[in-house]
Amino acid sequence: MAEAGADAISLINTMKGIAIDIAARKPLLGNITGGLSGPAIKPVALYMVYEVASAVNVPVIGCGGIASASDALEFIMAGASAIQVGTASFTNPRAPLDVLEGIEQFMATEGIDDIAGLIGIARS
Ligand SMILES: Cc1cc2nc3c(=O)[nH]c(=O)nc-3n(C[C@H](O)[C@H](O)[C@H](O)COP(=O)(O)O)c2cc1C
Repeated sequence: MAEAGADAISLINTMKGIAIDIAARKPLLGNITGGLSGPAIKPVALYMVYEVASAVNVPVIGCGGIASASDALEFIMAGASAIQVGTASFTNPRAPLDVLEGIEQFMATEGIDDIAGLIGIARS
């Protein structure tokens, strides 16, 4: 991707899942499979960000199960230069602001002036 000219890489999207209606003996979803998002995919998303950020020289945008500042900070420490909040916004429309304010609070508490110093810090 980076070799093809990408300025940044965003990951991950949803993961495919399936559920079965045991009474009907059929898949529960009309489309048979569906996209799994939210907290269930966070460890996989973190792993992907960790691996990809180690392999490319363009910024990585982390996404997948981020609902809090600590979730976001995990992605940043794994190598993300920015993060996205998707599913969490459905149950908490303020989630992106909560994440932002929580990061600011963490930085103030820890005496960190520049978040760039946290990017990928858990990889070294
Ligand atoms: C309702 C819904 C719609 C989505 N639509 C798109 C889309 O149109 N294009 C896309 O690339 N990803 C789409 N996604 C995936 C999200 O951008 C995101 O990668 C994924 O949901 C994981 O993040 P999350 O756990 O914060 O939701 C969608 C996700 C959800 C839940």
